[in-house]
Amino acid sequence: MANGSDSIISLHHVTKRFKDGFVAVEDFNLDIKRGEFVTLLGPSGCGKTTTLRMIAGFDIPSEGEILLNGKDITKLPPYKRPVNTVFQHYALFPNLDVYDNVAFGLRMKRVPVKGKDIFGREVTKMKRLSNEEIDRRVARALEIVDMEELEDRDIASLSGGQQQRVAIARAIVNEPEVLLLDEPLSALDHKKRLDMQLELKEMHEKLGITFIYVTHDQEEALSMSNTIVVMKDGAIMQVGTPENIYNEPVNAYVADFIGESNIYNAIVSGKKEVRFLGAKWECVDDFPLNEKVDVVIRPEDVILDEPGKGTVEGKIVSSVFKGEDYCYVVKVGKSELECRDHTARPLGALVSARVTPETIQVMHKELTENDYRDVEISKEGKLLIGEDALACDLTVLLKGSHLDENDPSIIVDPKNGKRYSLSGAACSARFDFEAVSYSDDLSLEGPEARVLTSVWVGDHYQILARTEEEDDYIAVTPYQYAEGELVKVSVDPKKIKLRLRKGLDEYELRD
Ligand SMILES: Nc1ncnc2c1ncn2[C@@H]1O[C@H](COP(=O)(O)OP(=O)(O)OP(=O)(O)O)[C@@H](O)[C@H]1O
Ligand SMILES: [Mg+2]
Repeated sequence: MANGSDSIISLHHVTKRFKDGFVAVEDFNLDIKRGEFVTLLGPSGCGKTTTLRMIAGFDIPSEGEILLNGKDITKLPPYKRPVNTVFQHYALFPNLDVYDNVAFGLRMKRVPVKGKDIFGREVTKMKRLSNEEIDRRVARALEIVDMEELEDRDIASLSGGQQQRVAIARAIVNEPEVLLLDEPLSALDHKKRLDMQLELKEMHEKLGITFIYVTHDQEEALSMSNTIVVMKDGAIMQVGTPENIYNEPVNAYVADFIGESNIYNAIVSGKKEVRFLGAKWECVDDFPLNEKVDVVIRPEDVILDEPGKGTVEGKIVSSVFKGEDYCYVVKVGKSELECRDHTARPLGALVSARVTPETIQVMHKELTENDYRDVEISKEGKLLIGEDALACDLTVLLKGSHLDENDPSIIVDPKNGKRYSLSGAACSARFDFEAVSYSDDLSLEGPEARVLTSVWVGDHYQILARTEEEDDYIAVTPYQYAEGELVKVSVDPKKIKLRLRKGLDEYELRD
């Protein structure tokens, strides 16, 4: 059964639709085991806080149910749940010292105590905790967060990290079964974060309770959790151990989000063989011949060697020393391959690269839109996909901006006159299948491609065409195209969604 006896919290088909109709969490299904350290990981706005708030009881799901120890708590008010939350913006009482901040909730608390009334009948009375009990609990909470020495200090005299510990002590002093932590370390600097990550892990072990942790920082998730839940747009993409998620991402989104990776469009070219970067690579996964797939290679799995000894050849175009090894970018044809290597190599050096078959992760491609990750903007302000330049609208990169009248690769912010020169800027581009159309008139402008597959999907064809440089375009049309037919591709410029690899500020023109 879904909520077996080792599950402490289960979410079944939980959906949260806000009043304005926005769906922040959709059909969310998750079983959290007792004592686990679970992390909800995903970019800003993907619904992490909303999920946590529903578990805490601050928000009620629009659909679905939440179980605690197998009992439905979907509509139980927060104070009746054995759950406490540490928020991103924790509000400590500035006028109370450390001890009183932690003791505050306990002094308010009433607990049921069994006793006898004057007639000798059994009754349950609500009583305050005794001072000794409060003392004992506060002392234990402060010990767990390693603040017992500082119990008399004013809040204002504490560092950010120490204040964070008080916030955690205040939550665990209630002895919850589940502790919810919403980006609790985001206010700390990098070094302190790393320290606190280790300490939180230790606290988790000492307390033995369930932690549900929220972050958008993948390193944090990898280093602390037993289980990671990767989220996107209110839905779960993958649930697994850190190793599992890192080594076997289920799709390109998860691979891209978790750590550094090389992600390529590939095609299955044989039995346990995929083709990308202009070469054939042996892998361990068996996919149908000619299927379009994504492949992921982690930089640390690339083996660099002298030219001629690998699968592909390339030139080192960037090199960063990382203390233990070097981080290289090798240009292979028009693509880039990121690698980690212990040997010092000069810029411009020619190298070969290979990997062992088991380090190539092959994943089904979700064919939902045209998606180009490593493309750039030309000096004419067009989108360069391989050799082909597509008209696009650069002003989508900055709301309210317009193009410079003399240079179509420059956008201008009318509010402050700032100018951004995007010629050569690395970007990614996405557009719907509907944005693409094909023509058999080969005298037209635009990429020339050959129809590779044509699939009838209910009421239209989904047609994939590939250019000579192996860039793929997918269109939906009511017309049938024969496989192997040459077509001209055109893309509606207004429908191209651009995203710069670096921030827009990097491209600001300064005189
Ligand atoms: N009360 C609300 N009404 C309408 N929309 C909301 C409400 N609360 C949150 N949202 C929207 O729901 C989406 C998910 O929000 P949520 O706070 O859960 O994201 P998050 O993953 O925690 O992001 P972050 O990392 O930025 O904290 C966002 O698009 C947000 O704007
Ligand atoms: Mg949040």
